[in-house]
Amino acid sequence: VRVLAVASEVYPIVKTGGLADVAGALPLALKAHGVEMRTLMPGYPDVMRRLSGADEIQRWSDYFGGPGRLLAGSHDGLDLFVLDVPHLYARPGNPYVTAEGVDWPDNGVRFAALARVAADIGRGLVASFVPDVVHAHDWQAGLAPAYLHYDGGPRPGTVMTIHNMAYQGKFDRALAGAIGLPHDASFDVHGLEYFGGISFLKAGLQLADRITTVSPTYAHEIQSDEGGMGLGGLLRERASVLSGILNGIDIAVWNPQTDTHIAYRFGAQDLTFRAANKAVLQQQFNLDSSDEAPLLGVISRLSWQKGLDLLLEAIPTILDQGMQLALLGSGDRDLQERYQAAARANPGRIGVMIGYDEILAHLIQAGSDALLVPSRFEPCGLTQLCALRYGAVPIVSRVGGLEDTIIDIGETGRDATGFKFGPVTAGALTGTLRKANAAFHDKATWRRLQLSGLATDVSWRNRAGEYAALYRGLMASRRA
Ligand code: ADP
Ligand code: GLC
Repeated sequence: VRVLAVASEVYPIVKTGGLADVAGALPLALKAHGVEMRTLMPGYPDVMRRLSGADEIQRWSDYFGGPGRLLAGSHDGLDLFVLDVPHLYARPGNPYVTAEGVDWPDNGVRFAALARVAADIGRGLVASFVPDVVHAHDWQAGLAPAYLHYDGGPRPGTVMTIHNMAYQGKFDRALAGAIGLPHDASFDVHGLEYFGGISFLKAGLQLADRITTVSPTYAHEIQSDEGGMGLGGLLRERASVLSGILNGIDIAVWNPQTDTHIAYRFGAQDLTFRAANKAVLQQQFNLDSSDEAPLLGVISRLSWQKGLDLLLEAIPTILDQGMQLALLGSGDRDLQERYQAAARANPGRIGVMIGYDEILAHLIQAGSDALLVPSRFEPCGLTQLCALRYGAVPIVSRVGGLEDTIIDIGETGRDATGFKFGPVTAGALTGTLRKANAAFHDKATWRRLQLSGLATDVSWRNRAGEYAALYRGLMASRRA
């Protein structure tokens, strides 16, 4: 089986969130299932710098308004197609926004260009790699199934994966003509049209053969009006081709026994070494050095989705329970400032680092006692999976993939791995923090939670198999 994946970010080359982790790990895990996956991504400066053995496959003098090339190459075991179009992608920093944090005004054209070449590869542009399936990730790739549909003629199967319903790639309807889609498609409710404009995600969801999202519970939630964020009706109509496949994590990148980013390496047998990592973590976040104070860790984008405003409301509880907080994150200005203020007001107890720092993320997993994920919605979530693997006990809200990956301490008949709270309110969160604090001070209980977490399979092995089965099923149904 040959699959072309289309993604706007791929770890370890370019990453703003979990999408990159998934796009970077899934191709490697699929090899064991007989799937040959290549990934198409834009030629941002970081990609151009890191691409090795690049062959030029195609050259255009005018590709969406400027010269462009399609390259094939590799990086770190990943086989890549790179769309090198300098006037669209040769920009510093974040792939989606300007230095001021505003969406690039030409994002519609930038990601249409990516999807256009995906469809061309789908139709045989690269003789040595003609895919059976084109697998589009999130709105940035959403037009790939649309181009393949509107081009007409024989085409590969198409899969659209939703990593986050909140980002829908909405643009003015006039864009359709400029990016080479039929004018009518943008007026068609069964095409691109979306509340008077067009949406790249909607186009993909409407026109792909199969839809997946990154957890079974999120697959269910997005069929409601609230969870669907405007697309619930469409997803209800297409429920028969929609499924949820849980994410895994790359257990080679996240391995506490070999992790060079942490101060002291450890395994299930020597969990006591976590204390040494905790001490280093406390130092780095200017927290009082204390083994007895439960240390809560957070590694997150700071956005409404993540519910971190609720955690700010819970700070008085954290303080009066004798807990500490180490938060690493970046995003909303307002949240950044409020967390910095909380740290200033509570030295030794609340530590905050604003920014993106992979090394520190590993240290938080290795040194914090509990990892908090109080999201309002969470398609899958990856930090709670890393936490399980590092012996940090997850405290999460009961939504999406958090519901599916953590077993609450109150559940009977299964080995609990953490704490879940719902509804997603500050009140429910503080209640659960109190409960977790009590459990922390009961050493045997806490150790049991940690060991169950460490015994949980968070790898891609089986989950990649579900994608392989999906691709094969799709191919079989198209042959029939
Ligand atoms: P999302 O994709 O919604 O941001 P996920 O939990 O799926 O959430 O993935 C987030 C990924 O990004 C994880 O690998 C996490 O470790 C990483 N991450 C998030 N914020 C930071 C940060 N400030 N510094 C380092 N890594 C971060
Ligand atoms: C999104 C979601 C997150 C998920 C990630 C990878 O960014 O917010 O829950 O884990 O994609 O699928």
